[in-house]
Amino acid sequence: MNETLKVLESRRSCRNFKPDMVKDEDLKAILKAGTYAATGMGKQSPIIIAVTDKKLRDEISEENRKIGGWQESFDPFYGAPVILIVLAKKDVRTYMYDGSLVMGNLMNAAESLGVASIWIHRAKEEFESDFGKDILKKLGIEDEYEGIGHCALGYAAEPAKEPARRKENYVYYI
Ligand SMILES: Cc1cc2nc3c(=O)[nH]c(=O)nc-3n(C[C@H](O)[C@H](O)[C@H](O)COP(=O)(O)O)c2cc1C
Repeated sequence: MNETLKVLESRRSCRNFKPDMVKDEDLKAILKAGTYAATGMGKQSPIIIAVTDKKLRDEISEENRKIGGWQESFDPFYGAPVILIVLAKKDVRTYMYDGSLVMGNLMNAAESLGVASIWIHRAKEEFESDFGKDILKKLGIEDEYEGIGHCALGYAAEPAKEPARRKENYVYYI
């Protein structure tokens, strides 16, 4: 199996991160890989907001927790120090597919560099609220964007779990 295939198979979601910040050069490489995802008609509808600031990271976690309805002690980002938020421009027909592919690139690029990751949901609700809209406003982003997902990044505090068995009939040959 070549290195790319190994990475694609071995990436697992991490739910226990160390607090250590991701190395800057690795973070940049992961973000770059995200920007090279395929997009419908090459329109590059997504944007990525890279959050490394602890205060903002904690505020996002708190918003996400409230949307999810969990108890106060729960961190939906499992301690990850970096949150990459992928949003995509709603007036592009393929925006959700485009944003999802960016998420895939981010997670797989992270895996290739020994950085753990997980897709955390509820970005849509976050950016429909004043909290999210305010983040966009501060960045000078005015177009209509929908939150697609958060890619939480960091270093794993425990070994990755074995993947679930792949279901029967995942693939059909004709
Ligand atoms: C669209 C999407 C949303 C997800 N949202 C969450 C989430 O909010 N919280 C969480 O712990 N995991 C979330 N996950 C991670 C999945 O639970 C995980 O990918 C799945 O259990 C398979 O495990 P693996 O990633 O290790 O292969 C999400 C994954 C996807 C693709």
